[in-house]
Amino acid sequence: MKNDVKNVLYSESVIKSKVEELAKRISEDYADKELLLIGVLKGANVFMCDLMREITFPIQIDFIAASSYGHSTESSGVVKIIKDLDYSIEGKHVIIVEDIIDTGLTLKYLIENFKSRQPKSLEICTLLDKPERRIAHLEVKYTGFQIPDEFIVGYGIDYAERYRNLPYIATLKESVYSK
Ligand code: IMP
Ligand code: MG
Repeated sequence: MKNDVKNVLYSESVIKSKVEELAKRISEDYADKELLLIGVLKGANVFMCDLMREITFPIQIDFIAASSYGHSTESSGVVKIIKDLDYSIEGKHVIIVEDIIDTGLTLKYLIENFKSRQPKSLEICTLLDKPERRIAHLEVKYTGFQIPDEFIVGYGIDYAERYRNLPYIATLKESVYSK
């Protein structure tokens, strides 16, 4: 697997510091509140696990799985909910936890969907953001790293369902895509 890596963008220790920083901000902002983190599967799984363990008070978690139709490296904006939330979010302070925002179309759909369920507040926390690629406007309260328009994998993020288990964030060699 490591032979397929072209360039490591963020090492394990750099990611760890950033996750701690985000969790500290969240812990301060929601200190006296009931907070529900919603992880977007599967990509946000690893980030979610690390982030929640750095939050300093008891929180609730839930997961949603959504897939966008279309080409494997491009988002189409047509989103299908594959696994919905287990519980109601009505009246709750919610943060959606995402791995990466690209066009923003997936999250835009989820935000609109969640708003109709009447949470008390709704914010976004993403580890990575590619602002150059944005199509849908989103207010993102917590962002880890802004990255250029490059396809990355690792730390939960896949190419064709693989490389999620790389412990760092990296680009892949061109040869991987032509396999
Ligand atoms: P959006 O709807 O275009 O914002 O798509 C976001 C989703 O596309 C992310 O949650 C990822 O699943 C996927 N994605 C976007 N950029 C990348 C990338 O560089 N590598 C792997 N998956 C990506
Ligand atoms: Mg995702």
